[in-house]
Amino acid sequence: MLPTTATDRRAETSVPLVDVLAERWSPRAFDPDGVVSDEQLTAALEAARWTPSLANGQPSRFVVGRRGDDTFAAILDSLAPGNAEWAHSATVLVANVAEVTDENGAPRTRHEYDLGQAVAHFTVQAHADGLHVHQMAGFSAEALRESFGIPARFEPLTVSALGVLGEADTLPERVRARESAPRSRKPLGDLVHRGTWN
Ligand SMILES: Cc1cc2nc3c(=O)[nH]c(=O)nc-3n(C[C@H](O)[C@H](O)[C@H](O)COP(=O)(O)O)c2cc1C
Repeated sequence: MLPTTATDRRAETSVPLVDVLAERWSPRAFDPDGVVSDEQLTAALEAARWTPSLANGQPSRFVVGRRGDDTFAAILDSLAPGNAEWAHSATVLVANVAEVTDENGAPRTRHEYDLGQAVAHFTVQAHADGLHVHQMAGFSAEALRESFGIPARFEPLTVSALGVLGEADTLPERVRARESAPRSRKPLGDLVHRGTWN
């Protein structure tokens, strides 16, 4: 039986984490009939809005489509085939866009960092509400620019699929195994430095 619950995919940690972080993971199997309420979607976007950013510059923007509308279809069209083959079952697709230069033409710094943090908070809020998110870099930024008329000073950096966890058995054969592959991370000791780097 393939694992399809958040609990099955729980992160193994040396000390306990809050459930929403331990149980967050990135599924490919989304329920094609899954419902995301307007309140749940707004809550995730509010979480993104309230993230910290460099000098409170707030460079993050979001193009939001619900399955069945034109925005969803255009974002889906921009995805690499290996992502589109499962992301079509998500309830919502969000193109995550960073403002690269401000309105006066001055280049921003840390805008990618800020957008990543905003998307992380979006993700955590969604998972706290019982939903799942899968972020993707496999898409065409140019296709999104063309579809939505995104100005040159903004850059689409990722797309997020948001929805209700589905059955792994419904996935194409090629990606099904990945859905149940063990989740792994480098040991904490490899990431944390104290004193000198080595
Ligand atoms: C910036 C970014 C880009 C990603 N791009 C893709 C992608 O194009 N396709 C995909 O299937 N997963 C993508 N992922 C998902 C990662 O592969 C996934 O988060 C990672 O393997 C860890 O798995 P977990 O989120 O289930 O813990 C991306 C994640 C991030 C943060």
